[in-house]
Amino acid sequence: MTTEFVENITEQALRRAGAVIRQGGLVAFPTETVYGLGANALDGAAVRRIFEAKGRPQDNPLICHIASPDAIYSLAREVPEAALRLAREFWPGPLTIVLPCRPEVPSEVTAGLDTVGIRLPSHPQARALISEAGVPIAAPSANTSGRPSPTTAAHVLEDMGGRIDMILDGGACSVGVESTVVSLAGSVPRLLRPGGVTLEMLRSVLGEVEVDRAVREQIGADVRVSAPGMKYRHYAPRAPVVAVTGDPQRSAAYILSELKDGDGVICFEECRPMFEGRVQYLHSLGMASDPSDQARRLFDDLRAFDHCGAERILAQCPGDDGVGLAVANRLKKAAGFHVVEV
Ligand code: TXA
Ligand code: MG
Repeated sequence: MTTEFVENITEQALRRAGAVIRQGGLVAFPTETVYGLGANALDGAAVRRIFEAKGRPQDNPLICHIASPDAIYSLAREVPEAALRLAREFWPGPLTIVLPCRPEVPSEVTAGLDTVGIRLPSHPQARALISEAGVPIAAPSANTSGRPSPTTAAHVLEDMGGRIDMILDGGACSVGVESTVVSLAGSVPRLLRPGGVTLEMLRSVLGEVEVDRAVREQIGADVRVSAPGMKYRHYAPRAPVVAVTGDPQRSAAYILSELKDGDGVICFEECRPMFEGRVQYLHSLGMASDPSDQARRLFDDLRAFDHCGAERILAQCPGDDGVGLAVANRLKKAAGFHVVEV
């Protein structure tokens, strides 16, 4: 299959992309979080093609993207007051709300669960595409399953070239990690995946929010979890990763003491001078105090190591405050939860 790569997203290109979606094809498109791999969410056969293109496990449900808040009613069977409050506060934006789903939502989207994840992205071209398509768009991140999520169209091309109909290039993603996923399907709101809308922000609107175990720990592949996507090794570059948490000066000192030939390092910007000249492959995650910047850089840093041939990656990992929880979660998952606390 030839993949059309659209460098300049004109109205005409969006109309064509909308038609591809309606006809059951696959279009990769930019969002504020990461690039999505979209198909018509109401067409089970189209959605199956997403799983084939990504090599994604069948039991991992997809998020449905909508272009206006009212579309929530076409997918969710029940919309509690709390969902409306979240939508008012954080939509459009990097938040997915899991709700009981209507029977019309194909089981390919929900992976057989009785809930559906819904998100209204803030990226103008993402919303324009959904409007053009005229249907909700089911879209996971547009990477090969298990690889770091794509934050540029070049990342998408690397993984999906030849496997999908179209890639829309909207530049680099501004958030850089996938949306926050919160479930309102149980008695207490539950954070399933941390992201740009932080736990603190959710609690300011909802009060009590539980944090799913899978956010901080490894969950075995045989265990039933609330967010099936959280149990797989994920975000992983080819080389094994070790995530080192704790005070930045101490974690940098630990990594220096462990360095071997062929190692790559991801460090905080202020620690970079400690590593320069002492390690072959070095990438900065940004300032220790700026987890939002770290979120924007993380996946590109992880992918960069695949091109230079690093044999192992040692990474400084931020603490759990604010967007730091999302960055730490992705790094620990990339490390298969091989975490050293110093
Ligand atoms: O930012 C994002 O959310 C991106 C962009 C493209 O919007 N999409 C994305 O999709 O990250 P994906 O498929 O890579 O991750 C979806 C996550 C998975 O962990 C999945 O298990 C969870 O959301 N999820 C989806 N529907 C769910 C449901 N009904 N119940 C629980 N978890 C669900
Ligand atoms: Mg993904």
